Amino acid sequence: MADPATLGGTRTISYIAPLLTSLLSTLAFWSGAVPGASGSISNPAASHPGPYTAYTWKLELLARVVSRWKGKMVSLVADGKPQPQPLSTKAACNSHGQDSSYFLGWEEYERNPYDPVANPGGIIQMGLAENQLSFDLLEEWLEANPDALGLRRGGASVFRELALFQDYHGMPAFKNALARFMSEQRGFMVAFDPRNIVLTAGATSANEALVFCLADHGDAFLIPTPYYPGFDRDLKWRTGAEIVPVHCISANGFRVTRAALEDAFRRAQKQRLRVKAVLITNPSNPLGTTSPRADLEMLVDFVAAKGIHLVSDEIYSGTAFAEPGFVSVLEVAGAELSDRVHVVYSLSKDLGLPGFRVGAIYSANAGVVSAATKMSSFGLVSSQTQHLLASLLGDRDFTRRYIAENTRRIKERRDQLAEGLAAIGIECLESNAGLFCWVNMRRLMRSRSFEGEMELWKKVVFEVGLNISPGSSCHCREPGWFRVCFANMSAKTLDVALQRLAAFAAAAGPARTMSCPIRFSWANRLTPGAADRKAER
Ligand SMILES: Cc1ncc(COP(=O)(O)O)c(C=O)c1O
Repeated sequence: MADPATLGGTRTISYIAPLLTSLLSTLAFWSGAVPGASGSISNPAASHPGPYTAYTWKLELLARVVSRWKGKMVSLVADGKPQPQPLSTKAACNSHGQDSSYFLGWEEYERNPYDPVANPGGIIQMGLAENQLSFDLLEEWLEANPDALGLRRGGASVFRELALFQDYHGMPAFKNALARFMSEQRGFMVAFDPRNIVLTAGATSANEALVFCLADHGDAFLIPTPYYPGFDRDLKWRTGAEIVPVHCISANGFRVTRAALEDAFRRAQKQRLRVKAVLITNPSNPLGTTSPRADLEMLVDFVAAKGIHLVSDEIYSGTAFAEPGFVSVLEVAGAELSDRVHVVYSLSKDLGLPGFRVGAIYSANAGVVSAATKMSSFGLVSSQTQHLLASLLGDRDFTRRYIAENTRRIKERRDQLAEGLAAIGIECLESNAGLFCWVNMRRLMRSRSFEGEMELWKKVVFEVGLNISPGSSCHCREPGWFRVCFANMSAKTLDVALQRLAAFAAAAGPARTMSCPIRFSWANRLTPGAADRKAER
């Protein structure tokens, strides 16, 4: 809520300054001290002598100082020159969230990225939920199917067809293939009607478009914590909607409860916010867990009782690797609620293609589909991407093999991280999905507070050389939890990361009485081979 206040302040000063100017000019004019309402204030002592003029000058000076202090280019004097207009309040406000530790860690990584050969002392990126584990499978398929990348169909060029203006409803061949793939990810327990799919430039765009469809400026979404830090940007920044956190706790593995939902709903009402929806991420980012069916049933009951919507971001649906498997909210919601349950999906995680910008909204609500389709023209999926993916996802043998192998590899990598951490005495929440672990690092903190968490985070980034995401950036209420990603690097790099952490933990000692540990020099510890370096890129 800090931003609206800042905006209000900015707006106030832009209104006050001209008013103040006009008041002062009027006073000066009637006092006879100023030869006209447009006199300059540049040389007051010389041109406007007398007690009243001096008072006017002081007021004007004060107003100028206030104006400068607010950093606005507001002129207090109508000197006839056009004044430079400030940027929009949206451009100037800071609710984008770019200054959160989640994004700051990325910036640090960009400044000093780890490379096993060129920069072995650099920072290892463990704050990015990317899936690089199955690129070889995609590359093999591309080699075997040159038409997809060559913009051909049956050997004949489709270049001209793809280069022309595309309809924002998306290519039928791609939507059919995506609908089937989404169904396959859910074990064919849900059938997706391609007519209810709206294509978007990634889940980022899908989530924002849904907020625009469901909420007005100042309306609220309830979101269980900890949640994906990007939501502060995606859901709030341009829409003006608010997020009210549903506080979940470690005592029950951060599962959402009816009591926590009711509490968040009451808090929203106290703040005079109209609650429009509950938004969940299933499987959860950052927990790496799937929502149990019973929790989904409870959520469905809750939204039905309150007459609100339920949005389920299922971007990690294809990453579930262990029991209890992934259950989509669409399996649970009955027909009577079908026009208030909306699913967000993307190929950024399951296929590891965030650069392709392919996302989707799935909704049985005709109003939402129609409005979101119109909005999608601000972020369409390019036609050559749709062409390529229509062939890829249309290859059923490939998708079956890919899903099985990809989840096997995710599990293997998750086990490597969880076992490595356990050996150091650091525990994780037991996970069964996602590209990260939710790790409890309290034992390495000097104080059990958010200050202690930030202090540890800085040490881990700058001294240990690992960019991980502090729980506070995910709005976790308990200090000491961190999200640690494992699927955007090779197994060897993950080993390097674990060795760094082990040395740090050993230096920190068994309890919370850690003195400032030595600065580690990683460069000489390991010299990975060229194969590892290749995998890194
Ligand atoms: C829960 C969740 N939703 C949405 C996104 C954004 O995904 P995309 O790259 O498809 O925009 C992410 C990315 O990390 C995510 O974790």
